[in-house]
Amino acid sequence: MSQPKPKSRVTIGHVFKTIIWPRKNILFVGLLLIIISRAAGLVPPWATKPFMDDILVRRDLDKLPELLIWVTVAILIQAVTSFLLTKILSVEAQRLISILRSNVQKHLLRLPTRFFDNQKSGALVSRVMNDVEGVRNLVGTGLVQLVGGVLTAIISVIFLISINPLMTLFILLPMSIFGIITLKAFSIIRPVFRERGKITAEVTGRLTETLNGVRVIKGFNAEQQEIKVFEKGVEQLFLNVKKSLTSTSFVTSSGTFLVGLASVGIMGLSGYFNLTAGDFLQFTMFMVFMIAPIVQMSNIGSQLTEAFAGLDRTEELMNTPIEDDGTLRTIRLNEIKGNIEFKDVSFSYEEGKPVLKNISFSSPSGSVTALVGTSGSGKTTIAGLAATFLNPESGSITIDGIDIEKVSLDSYRSQLGVVLQDDFLFEGTIRENILFPRPNASEEELQKAVRAAFVHEFTDRFEKGLETVIGERGVKLSGGQRQRIAIARAILANPRILILDEATSNLDTESESFIQDSLKTLMQGRTTFVIAHRLSTIRQADQILVVEEGQIQERGRHEELIEKKGRYFQLYTYQARI
Ligand SMILES: Nc1ncnc2c1ncn2[C@@H]1O[C@H](COP(=O)(O)OP(=O)(O)OP(=O)(O)O)[C@@H](O)[C@H]1O
Ligand SMILES: [Mg+2]
Repeated sequence: MSQPKPKSRVTIGHVFKTIIWPRKNILFVGLLLIIISRAAGLVPPWATKPFMDDILVRRDLDKLPELLIWVTVAILIQAVTSFLLTKILSVEAQRLISILRSNVQKHLLRLPTRFFDNQKSGALVSRVMNDVEGVRNLVGTGLVQLVGGVLTAIISVIFLISINPLMTLFILLPMSIFGIITLKAFSIIRPVFRERGKITAEVTGRLTETLNGVRVIKGFNAEQQEIKVFEKGVEQLFLNVKKSLTSTSFVTSSGTFLVGLASVGIMGLSGYFNLTAGDFLQFTMFMVFMIAPIVQMSNIGSQLTEAFAGLDRTEELMNTPIEDDGTLRTIRLNEIKGNIEFKDVSFSYEEGKPVLKNISFSSPSGSVTALVGTSGSGKTTIAGLAATFLNPESGSITIDGIDIEKVSLDSYRSQLGVVLQDDFLFEGTIRENILFPRPNASEEELQKAVRAAFVHEFTDRFEKGLETVIGERGVKLSGGQRQRIAIARAILANPRILILDEATSNLDTESESFIQDSLKTLMQGRTTFVIAHRLSTIRQADQILVVEEGQIQERGRHEELIEKKGRYFQLYTYQARI
């Protein structure tokens, strides 16, 4: 899979500035611990020479207790430091992960609704949760180990040179080859890791959709198809992991092979160079101490590569511009009256395909504007513009005479309420769902909203009343019940401007009349835009806009339009979808 978009790549400098530097203190402590631990780690190989030459060969037993104490203390220091290291750094890494997750989620919610039109929600979930995981390796023990490893390797090389410079040179050669192989391998692996994040997001996204649409899938007997799609995704993931495994295992094996080669060389050379048994053992031990971190580094290297790949993807998301960065939308609204005016508004989702053409109308404070028209004519788009989910391409929308594009979204939307066709309910209780826009509302206000929307009419029959848990997206309720909860929620929010996408669902006449009554209460005294299908709502409207092909074809009140015998009359009498 190739990505046509240019990739935003995270540089080491950027990571250093944003992730490493702010944690310099803790990382410094970590580094100090690593140095102590590594220094202690050098004691046992150093001890091999006196042990071999003085104690085993010359049987100078006086030195033994001292030697044993040194080694024991060194081992103890190692144990304590490695414990502290994990505790300090791993905890910090997890803290960073949670901070990053929150930041990404915060940014995500500030992106325009248009952004979400092109994204799978499950894929975004994976980007918030998984992509930041990698930094565990940056702040966690990974980076510090790497630095510690380099230090140990350098110190070991110095020791090795002091024992025998020529032999050292000999083992440095295969090590350099190994270093080059490793670097090369990581430049190959990084895109593979990047790709992996993408595939995971893709697969998770599809799975989430499958689960959300389980009724449709079963209804059309399409399980086999979904199974196939998922299998393909999982297979892709497998192939990706396989690719990176091949590279990493190649690095590890070539490391082992070159180390082996070096040891063979040492064995041979030590004969020529006349080393003592102690020197040989010490040399070998230091060699291991030099090589071990290098091999370990290749592991850490792949962890860091993974971290960078994840950060690349996170950065991509964080670089997506938010809908209100406070530079253009500088006007804060206080209490608004709610006069909304569209002046020559045009809009298109895709360039060259205008959806709205020069729409002009005004909705005075407290009035009800009904939008009717054939499917796809642009009604939801007009509502989306009024809700600031979309911005006009040309023309302007004003609220109390102020250009809506200059108004801070926060101050506008706090006075806006929406009841959408496929209304959104959370997993949780009915009470929580109604309280959602105003969690601190009083019990009295809540009860008032519940009554006004006739929610009590059905909750009174539930054993747990308002505390009934309604399942994800409210699946445990009927369409009409869900709608009444959404209406209660909007009544409680008490917005100045209300946007209603009325459902066409065939409710029984009884709940229909409940909903009619509750809608009436809801719309009272608010500037309302309603995409109306119900005749009762349309009749009450102060103005009806008949939208056809992105233009307002007719406007007026119900009786006027009927009299006119135009498009509205047609829609109305044919009982087409209005
Ligand atoms: N997110 C989008 N991206 C691209 N095109 C879109 C998007 N949303 C809607 N459109 C297109 O814009 C046009 C108007 O859509 P809109 O949703 O406003 O129609 P509508 O009048 O609300 O229809 P309905 O009565 O079926 O809800 C349609 O042709 C539709 O294909
Ligand atoms: Mg619509």
